[in-house]
Amino acid sequence: MPDLLSLTIDGRTIEVEAGTNLVDASLKAGVQIPHYCYHPRLSVVGQCRMCLVKIDGVPKLQTGCTTQVMKDGMTVHVDHDEVKTAQEGMMEFLLINHPLDCPICDQAGECGLQDYSFKHGQAFSRFSYEDKRTYPGKERIPLGPSVVLNMNRCIQCTRCVRFTEEITETGELGFFQRGSRAEIGVFPGNELDNPLSTCVVDICPVGALTSTEFRFAERVWYLDKKPSLCTGCDAGCNITLEHRRENIRRYKPRLNAEVNDHWMCDYGRGTFRAYSEPRITSPERRNARGETRALSWADGLSSAHRALTQAASMGRVGVLARGATTTEEAYLLRRLADALGTGDRGVLHEPGPERTIPNPNGGVRGNELTPNRRGALLAGLAPTDTGTDPNGILEGAVTGDHSALLIFDGGAAGKDNALSRQSVLEALRRAGTVIVLGWARTALVDAADLALPIATHAETAGTLVNSQSRLQRFERAIPAPAGVRSGVEALADLLRFFEPDFGAATVAEVFALLASEISSLAGTDFDQLPANGLQLEERLG
Ligand code: SF4
Ligand code: SF4
Ligand code: FES
Repeated sequence: MPDLLSLTIDGRTIEVEAGTNLVDASLKAGVQIPHYCYHPRLSVVGQCRMCLVKIDGVPKLQTGCTTQVMKDGMTVHVDHDEVKTAQEGMMEFLLINHPLDCPICDQAGECGLQDYSFKHGQAFSRFSYEDKRTYPGKERIPLGPSVVLNMNRCIQCTRCVRFTEEITETGELGFFQRGSRAEIGVFPGNELDNPLSTCVVDICPVGALTSTEFRFAERVWYLDKKPSLCTGCDAGCNITLEHRRENIRRYKPRLNAEVNDHWMCDYGRGTFRAYSEPRITSPERRNARGETRALSWADGLSSAHRALTQAASMGRVGVLARGATTTEEAYLLRRLADALGTGDRGVLHEPGPERTIPNPNGGVRGNELTPNRRGALLAGLAPTDTGTDPNGILEGAVTGDHSALLIFDGGAAGKDNALSRQSVLEALRRAGTVIVLGWARTALVDAADLALPIATHAETAGTLVNSQSRLQRFERAIPAPAGVRSGVEALADLLRFFEPDFGAATVAEVFALLASEISSLAGTDFDQLPANGLQLEERLG
């Protein structure tokens, strides 16, 4: 058990672990010490001098980031005239040479200089001369494929340099020249091109580093933000999904020290672009000539029920899921498979590139295109002892073993996937009956006899279980288009044809059923799941 020491910050007494620095300690007391160069996951350099505080018994102001609590009874003042004068002085220095081009700067609205100018600066500058230090020709330097530098805006905090040295350990960035001419750049012949490179944009406190993708795309104050999860792989990185009028504009990493910490990969940031695919917005049936006809949901669901019941009485039915199928959707698919009496069920295991996101415990890894295969296993969507696994089900489709297939395509990342291969699609076209629940007009939907439109993960809520067997919840960020139902609504309505008394209709209600069956979820409530997820006792393979 670490030593706890008490200290008083602005009259509030708290206890912190010995060695905690004053910037972190102050947060616990509900006091903010302004800072630029300090970042909790980077080495402490004490460079920007913005975090100066007054400590009783110490003659001069001290930097909060470099001062650790090492003895009991320290008294610290942040709200103090001397500190205020120092903060105003630091802001004045920082702004002498700053271009103050906020109206055309992408960082405006989430900029450390703007925020601290309002809170800790003053309304005038004593430096009235016109000539600012500038870096001619260095206003838009591509540092790599994802990041652009405007050196005029840099406040030389070195967070970006330390990030590439200490987090990615790729060391592409350095400080060049000396004194007031010091500048950030890549080493000759190098570029900033590592899997996490856009994280430097997140940690740059000003608009010096901007994202190639997001530059000029949107003013940040127009964005609505929701806590969500990346579905790019099974690492399960926590994100904030940011959209304007239902158009997703960006994913940003959301702090979860147990999973992705402050970071996410560049690939994951771009996965929302898959959601710009054309949608299907009503159930539709394809006839033998390949012509499709739109149906109402009532007709679509009763057709699915009829086709599945008939197929189950004549032969084998396979129940298959892929992509970002949530744990709750997997649970309902399992109940449907039970109702159809088939053990041929499961989620496709789709290997993907190896990705690692550093965290204080050594990092989280992902190497599957399916972000929630483990959640499906938890929900029981796995072949029974006599059943066929997902690959067998696909082979069965090719050889005509199955009289019907019910496929839930959770989509998300991985456009090029096991169900988009031409040979599989041709086999599916020949298979008995293929019912697809999908969100985009994919080749799979076009190959289906009956297609039912479902929401994307951005348009629904649910849980995913990542590669660490950590169950994490995400919220609905945007509404689904008219005519589209969430996977849970569509599957629960279909299940009611088989089980008329089945009462659950919402994600929380389905989760409650799941929790009643699984010991490690006993007593948990969907709405009360911890913000950083729930580590399951069982390790799901
Ligand atoms: S580019 Fe941004 S993160 Fe890097 S030193 Fe300059 S201000 Fe700091
Ligand atoms: S590691 Fe995986 S889950 Fe994390 S951001 Fe990248 S693709 Fe998304
Ligand atoms: S945050 Fe302490 S000196 Fe920069």
